[in-house]
Amino acid sequence: MKRTRATGWIFSTALFFLAQGARAQTVTIPVETRNNALVFQADANRNVGIVYMGARLQDKNEYALATGMYKQTSDYSGVANAAYATSGTRNLFEPALSVTHVDGNNSLDLQYVRHESKQLDNNTSLLSIYLKDPVYNFEVTLFCKSWFNEDVTEQWSEIKHNEKGKVTLHKYASAGLYLKASSYWLRQYHGDWAREMQPEEAKLTHGIKTVDSKLGTRANLFQPSVFMVSLDKPATEDEGTVLYGALEWSGNFRVDLELDNRDNLRIMAGINNYASPYTLQPGEVFTTPAFLSVLSTKGKGAASRQLHNWARNYKILDGKGTRLTLLNNWEATYFDFNENKLKELLKDTRKLGVDLFLLDDGWFANKYPRNNDNAGLGDWGENKKKLPNGIATLVQEAQQNQVKFGIWVEPEMVNPKSELYEQHPDWVVKQVSRPEHYFRNQLVLDLSNPAVQDFVFGVVDNLFTKNPALAYIKWDCNAVIYNAHAAKLGNQSHFYVQYVQGLYNVLKRLRAKYPTVPMMLCSGGGGRVDYAALQYFTEFWPSDNTDPLERIFMQWEYSYFYPSVSMSAHVTDWGKQPIKFRTDVAMMGKLGFDIVVSHLKEKDLQFCQEALKTYESLKPVIWQGDQYRLQSPADHDVASLLYLNEARSRGVVFNYLVNNRYEAGSVLPIRLKGLDAKKRYTLKEVNVFPGTSSGIDSSKSYSGEFLMTVGFNPDVKQGRNSVVIEIKAVD
Ligand code: DGJ
Repeated sequence: MKRTRATGWIFSTALFFLAQGARAQTVTIPVETRNNALVFQADANRNVGIVYMGARLQDKNEYALATGMYKQTSDYSGVANAAYATSGTRNLFEPALSVTHVDGNNSLDLQYVRHESKQLDNNTSLLSIYLKDPVYNFEVTLFCKSWFNEDVTEQWSEIKHNEKGKVTLHKYASAGLYLKASSYWLRQYHGDWAREMQPEEAKLTHGIKTVDSKLGTRANLFQPSVFMVSLDKPATEDEGTVLYGALEWSGNFRVDLELDNRDNLRIMAGINNYASPYTLQPGEVFTTPAFLSVLSTKGKGAASRQLHNWARNYKILDGKGTRLTLLNNWEATYFDFNENKLKELLKDTRKLGVDLFLLDDGWFANKYPRNNDNAGLGDWGENKKKLPNGIATLVQEAQQNQVKFGIWVEPEMVNPKSELYEQHPDWVVKQVSRPEHYFRNQLVLDLSNPAVQDFVFGVVDNLFTKNPALAYIKWDCNAVIYNAHAAKLGNQSHFYVQYVQGLYNVLKRLRAKYPTVPMMLCSGGGGRVDYAALQYFTEFWPSDNTDPLERIFMQWEYSYFYPSVSMSAHVTDWGKQPIKFRTDVAMMGKLGFDIVVSHLKEKDLQFCQEALKTYESLKPVIWQGDQYRLQSPADHDVASLLYLNEARSRGVVFNYLVNNRYEAGSVLPIRLKGLDAKKRYTLKEVNVFPGTSSGIDSSKSYSGEFLMTVGFNPDVKQGRNSVVIEIKAVD
């Protein structure tokens, strides 16, 4: 988690650091992006607050005038708008940082010392604001990295001291924001297995609303850290001011949204301090994870397109690259397979026309064979009965079938019924004197232990060493942490933090050795996706629930935060819909299949094969294009989404019937967005089921203006419940 401090700072402002106690001049520090500004200010008493967050102003000097326009009741403390609130001094609200010094004193006051801003490249800047306590030898640097074109910022802090002993950090948030509006509307998410990303949107009331996780790992299972806050009124896709936020951290997190006595909103986000007071040695630097935010004054659609661009350009591993379509055997076989069966599936992979076969859970363990989920996890030798010739033979067989081969692992976990557990009981997270409690019959390995990190690294490294042609990893994580205790860890209250740091150590090592191999971030569904993890993974598994109707809703919500190139979507046998509907939905993300190909009816197979060819041609638009959510499944009978390339010359619209009541359908035309009003476009239905024909006349053309003003009716109805339309500009 340590970042090396970049050298070669360019000092942007005349710096000052007056003697302790003296009044200083006010320093206004705007962080400007193409459309927005986040403005910090050090006042005459050297308190650093946030004085503005909103649309960028032409004249930088006017930011300093903003505060004077608010006639709210007084700020009794003078630090209500603190950029990084402390405790034990004047702050009357939730702190970002709370400490106990070596002498037992609990007070902290962080005062402005200086700031620097550095242009990292033509799109990225880094602001550092140095703060110091005038009484204790304790300092914090606030960082704000901003991406000009995407309006995205990341904020984090470095905390250190040089006191004569250890200082305890009771709370150590990454950053705070301070917003002013007449009302605030929070959209947050909750869920469980197969019910990820269930939205709730409500007006924030006074006091603190906390969105958090204490699950340790698979931390987003009940609640992810992603959220959005609309200012003044609930933002729509195209209107209103909305802030998206997320913590880049794959463990316990905590986001506090505090509506204060003056009706201003303070947002504080960071690692959850639950059971985790952190003891900081003199000279040690604690770097908090980044808090990500994007602000839009043009509604939710613009915010998500900005975020998608940022994620693909700067964050997701190989975000601008390609992805592999695949056939997974999880739902086709579960644990019940052998070499011969898999050889047949490899032939099916080729027949279907996908790039890769993905062998799922159940291929390993001998003393306690992995024939169900209560044994074998942790014992990563191939199961000799199922695979007498090992993985190597399957990789070769895949090559003969001209497809690639990928494999499932869950290297952080262990079944008590395993040799690993017998040999290394002290590698397992558990309270030795208390009964074990299992989540999916398994326990979590202690990644705070370097020996365990080596083991986990080794699981994947050995697979690649033995099978250099291995082309894909599905990395699963099915348990939360109960009985958090790590046998080898000196300070148990560091466990939750060091678990995640240990995980990142392993992933960094793997990526140093295998920089590009695609890896899916899976957690028995979407329990783990965040932008820290996605630096190591090319894609994530949103949910084990692949019922396409459910996926329309879930992927809709995920799409606010994550681009489709990162979202794995498989055609399975979940749900009652025909194969066309299931495939049409999976095509909105990174397409895969998890079905028994040999059970498909002739026309169904033919449809899938043709759909894969269509996907091949459309995937650049789906993965890299701008996404416009046209009609929400929550409010309409027909859900509709458009992906459009940068040149606005090619796009694809996915339309689905999500209401099965009498005469439900696309009664009204659906207005497209983002097109060039002056261009003319043809619309052609694709993914037409063999033996049927489309009623849409692809020879007709319409102006962009018409399609965005009047709209187009895809004629979605019972019996025609999913319609995919390719849009092309006429030359
Ligand atoms: C949970 C995953 O989400 C599934 O796709 C599958 O890989 C199982 N684990 C295997 O145990």
